[in-house]
Amino acid sequence: MTLYDAMLERHSVRQYTDKKIEPEKIEILKNKIDEINKKSGLYISLCTEEPEAFQANKPSYGSFSGCKNYFVLAAGKGRDEDIGYYGEELVLLSQTLGLNTCWVALTFEKNKVPVKLSENEKIYDVIALGYGKTQGVVHKSKPLDKLYRAKGDAPEWFMRGMEAAALAPTAINQQRFIISYEDGKVGAKALLGPCSKTDLGIVKYHFELGAGSENIIWKDR
Ligand SMILES: Cc1cc2nc3c(=O)[nH]c(=O)nc-3n(C[C@H](O)[C@H](O)[C@H](O)COP(=O)(O)O)c2cc1C
Repeated sequence: MTLYDAMLERHSVRQYTDKKIEPEKIEILKNKIDEINKKSGLYISLCTEEPEAFQANKPSYGSFSGCKNYFVLAAGKGRDEDIGYYGEELVLLSQTLGLNTCWVALTFEKNKVPVKLSENEKIYDVIALGYGKTQGVVHKSKPLDKLYRAKGDAPEWFMRGMEAAALAPTAINQQRFIISYEDGKVGAKALLGPCSKTDLGIVKYHFELGAGSENIIWKDR
């Protein structure tokens, strides 16, 4: 399965089975985490068979059940967008391995996460991971024309990027972003809302996957 296929199939999953993640898959994910940490300066890790953060012993804490594996997304201050971008790379890689995920900013116990951070680092989010009881459901989306603005006719690749952007998971499914096209360049802006900067990184990852990175010149890079 390609990352593009994974993007089409991914939905948030909050109920997990007992099935353990195979060591080969854990190794693939850890290798990707190492690669990401090296190039981004983020501090991402993977906790496996750790039931405390989601209190798997209490059924449906924060509507999650059976979650014992999760990515921990930590970094210094002001890295929200990068957390979103690289976290979504891990989400879609996990989906290609037949694993389900859910981004989580609130409904987990931060102080139970067994990760040591230095003074200036913080946990932004975790991403629940495992074999879902279901594959989740398609989220409702705003119409595309509420998510972008274009000066003149936007090229076909831009519209493919927009379709991919609309599939991106966003906190409370708020889709508080706007993508723009002007003079061959693409802009992306987070609107006000909880986690909207992290959402923007996720959306940009999807946009690149849909539009093809080779076509895009980002305005602000
Ligand atoms: C940054 C971020 C934070 C999120 N935090 C939570 C959370 O605390 N609890 C939860 O149940 N879902 C959380 N979600 C999942 C969203 O509710 C979900 O992605 C959205 O409703 C879209 O659905 P989909 O992921 O199935 O496409 C979060 C998603 C994102 C991107």
